[in-house]
Amino acid sequence: MQPATADSVLGDFDNARFTHRGVTTTFRREDQNFIVHTAGEDGRMADFPVRYVFGVEPLQQLLLPLSRGRLQAFDIAWDSRPAAVGGQRWFHLNPEEVGDHSDPLHWTGPYMNWNTQCAECHSTDLEKRYDPDSRTYDSRYAEVDVACEACHGPGAQHIAQVRGESDRELPHVGFPVDLSQRGNWAFADGEPVARRQSELAHPGQVDTCGRCHARRGTLGDYHHGQPLLDTHRLSLPRPPLYHFDGQIRDEVYVYGSFLQSRMHREGVVCSNCHEPHSLELRAEGNGVCAQCHRPERYDTPQHHHHPVTSSGAACANCHMPETTYMVVDPRRDHSLRIPRPDLSVVMGTPNACNQCHREQSPEWALQALRDWGQAPEGTADHPARALQQLAAGNRSVVPGLLDLAQGDSEAPIQRAAILEALGEAGVAAEPLTPLLRHDDPILRLGAVQNAASLPPRERYALLRERIADPVASVRLATAEALADIPLAALPDTEAQALETLFREYRKTYRDHTDMPGVQLQLAIFLSQRGNRVAAEAAYRAALASNPQLLAGWLNLANLLRAEGREADARDALEQALELAPDSGQALHAMGLLEVRAGNRKSALDYLRRAAEQEDTGTRHRYVYAVALHDSGAEKQALQQLRALNSAAPGQEEILLALVSYSERAGEAAAALTYARELQSWFPDNPDYRQLVRRLQRLTGE
Ligand code: HEC
Ligand code: HEC
Ligand code: HEC
Ligand code: HEC
Ligand code: HEC
Ligand code: HEC
Ligand code: HEC
Repeated sequence: MQPATADSVLGDFDNARFTHRGVTTTFRREDQNFIVHTAGEDGRMADFPVRYVFGVEPLQQLLLPLSRGRLQAFDIAWDSRPAAVGGQRWFHLNPEEVGDHSDPLHWTGPYMNWNTQCAECHSTDLEKRYDPDSRTYDSRYAEVDVACEACHGPGAQHIAQVRGESDRELPHVGFPVDLSQRGNWAFADGEPVARRQSELAHPGQVDTCGRCHARRGTLGDYHHGQPLLDTHRLSLPRPPLYHFDGQIRDEVYVYGSFLQSRMHREGVVCSNCHEPHSLELRAEGNGVCAQCHRPERYDTPQHHHHPVTSSGAACANCHMPETTYMVVDPRRDHSLRIPRPDLSVVMGTPNACNQCHREQSPEWALQALRDWGQAPEGTADHPARALQQLAAGNRSVVPGLLDLAQGDSEAPIQRAAILEALGEAGVAAEPLTPLLRHDDPILRLGAVQNAASLPPRERYALLRERIADPVASVRLATAEALADIPLAALPDTEAQALETLFREYRKTYRDHTDMPGVQLQLAIFLSQRGNRVAAEAAYRAALASNPQLLAGWLNLANLLRAEGREADARDALEQALELAPDSGQALHAMGLLEVRAGNRKSALDYLRRAAEQEDTGTRHRYVYAVALHDSGAEKQALQQLRALNSAAPGQEEILLALVSYSERAGEAAAALTYARELQSWFPDNPDYRQLVRRLQRLTGE
């Protein structure tokens, strides 16, 4: 980030023009000023002076001022690459998605707001200073760009130390955090990979970089040397941000990938490869890997099977494939994984080989690996497949995932992702409870998200001890998981502790309600707390700043329904359907509303369309089958449920419906089969044992 001057501005301001969706923007100079003439917040054309430029290579963005202390990142950017490779032009960052000034993604909208969306990562020691009441910013920073203290923290003692003004030798040359964690690495005789000679003592360096190189939300004030999770809410490596196997998909930066890597678990940190001051790699090309991987073993066609001069012989191209963001900005996947075309074949995840060999199929790449004697193993029981099947509603993968969550074959961040996925699928098993006390906060976080699916009493009993967790992410996740617990039902001291946590939650999130997503989260929290008036206001505020927030309309409809305001709920759902006519959730909710209104035909139609859209879970298809049955289409309902049960075995509600509908159809033997299936999935449930016995008697077995 730099002030806009003749030196810093790269783009063409010689009356250059760029047209996007009928709006022609012009870029011109007036004396020392750089002026953008374009459509503003109200859609009217106006002049905006460029305050700052953002970035240098491969693109540069412009920051333009708006009212209420806002700086906005303009969405037409300068491609600073050489003309020979297509650069030296203005281009739109998001040409397909961004509409006119009423679109929240427009440059004047909340997502392009510098104060909240960009500044913490692009300046040093940012204070956002957002006032939710007046919706104004009074943002400040210590230095306009990323400087020493962004990584090292306060530097006064360091300067004193270096100038000889300090009376004693301070640790880490006077900086508050030890970032020098590269360690010593040595090759044992004959070993192809070097080993770290002393263990990595703490996550200080990687967490410092993660503040800006991670996909995360900001929680409170930053504290140098605290775990990242204490100041930021990290997005775990799960769809839709990542692929099921943890490869990057959306723009997720580096941290969430690197934490998955085998290398990080063996003590590698960012500065083993990056010199953090010049940002250069420690060595050129494959040399950066040769620090720890013997070239005789890896940097040879015996390993990579490409001519040494080919791009296919570069370690990073196979082990850190690129995905391009912002149209021109390729980023590497830092999970440093082995390419797995076999997984591409069975589950559609990408692999490095086909990211180059685009014209070839994954089957082709897999065959090449087989020909080279490097066929991947364990395709069938790879964790990514289990996670994909769990999302589809298949319960047979649960025991395997429970083992992965408890064992240490996977990196902690992946275990946390598995815990969260299991929780969403309603699986919170007892053996997971020790993880609530694990030393690693990311596992405690995963365990809290997991326990969120338990019934209130059990949930509170387990999560009570996390109310005072030292790490903010864990505490705030606990607040969300306990939001529906009535304080009046608790002993005084416990109620007070929980109330304090709830207050912290509201305070933390209120400071960031300039983001529609945060406002929405706060609304959900308030609604679970039973504070319906405040919740409705918060939903409406979120939707005012982003009317495209589908989840906002759906949750609002749900809240209105709970209050018996069916007509208002219908309005909200109509908005949702206008926004996303194919949204399974919106169709489903509208179907249920029609059921309540007694409009059976319309209800069935909505529920059918919801069922047709369903690609994760089984709920919508299940409900449609029940509705079919209720409408007299019994055969069709049974058919649906049978198909669903074989696609997603182990779903309690589906099996129960199969038992009851089969019995009613006079197919007692089939009912017994499903009852037995039910019993095998839920062996501890006495009701199911009884059910089996009753049906045995009935069939005379
Ligand atoms: C979570 C931290 C974070 C946030 C938030 C963030 N950026 Fe960045 N941004 C980065 C990092 C890190 C890089 C460069 C490293 C990379 O290539 O991954 C980068 C690179 C860029 C670049 C490429 C130019 C260059 O010099 O590399 C531009 C332009 C940019 N960001 C603009 C923005 C704008 C505009 C916003 C807000 C709408 C924003 N960024 C929000 C961290 C962030
Ligand atoms: C992007 C983050 C980052 C920025 C910005 C940064 N540093 Fe560093 N610095 C590091 C890291 C990481 C290390 C440890 C490198 C290693 O592992 O060898 C380090 C090491 C150092 C060391 C050696 C410390 C020791 O304990 O031996 C000094 C001194 C230092 N930096 C000073 C500075 C100064 C002065 C600036 C500003 C001009 C600066 N750094 C900017 C990340 C940063
Ligand atoms: C305060 C936020 C912040 C912190 C902390 C931070 N970075 Fe960055 N980093 C950025 C931004 C913003 C960019 C892109 C702009 C630029 O190129 O200067 C960047 C760029 C980089 C790049 C160059 C990317 C490229 O496109 O070439 C590397 C490498 C990098 N950072 C590594 C690190 C490492 C390693 C650490 C931790 C020691 C670290 N950063 C800490 C914000 C940060
Ligand atoms: C500072 C040392 C170090 C550097 C530098 C390094 N590695 Fe590693 N790498 C390791 C260690 C240690 C392991 C773990 C070996 C083991 O446990 O079997 C490893 C493992 C791997 C693996 C196996 C991953 C898996 O899931 O099984 C790959 C692939 C890999 N490294 C690629 C690279 C690439 C590519 C580079 C350069 C961009 C690189 N490494 C640089 C130390 C390093
Ligand atoms: C053309 C793609 C390709 C390139 C280039 C490549 N690798 Fe690999 N690498 C693989 C595949 C495939 C595997 C898994 C099969 C195997 O173990 O040989 C693998 C496995 C590995 C492993 C883990 C297994 C082991 O033998 O320890 C490491 C470490 C590794 N590669 C390092 C490197 C380094 C370092 C380079 C660069 C010098 C490199 N690779 C270049 C494809 C590649
Ligand atoms: C094993 C070596 C290795 C480690 C460890 C590593 N990186 Fe990288 N990183 C690379 C390589 C290689 C590139 C590609 C550089 C290039 O293409 O010029 C890269 C690229 C980047 C970039 C540029 C944008 C992108 O994503 O391609 C950023 C930013 C970055 N690394 C940050 C980090 C941070 C932060 C860490 C620690 C959390 C880290 N890296 C750890 C090897 C490493
Ligand atoms: C960075 C790009 C890149 C990646 C990644 C890459 N390749 Fe290649 N590959 C090439 C290029 C370029 C050639 C042509 C080499 C030559 O003959 O000069 C090639 C050649 C080949 C060939 C022989 C020529 C042919 O097309 O039949 C095979 C087979 C092959 N690659 C398989 C793989 C497999 C399998 C992987 C993943 C493990 C992989 N490649 C990863 C770039 C890549």
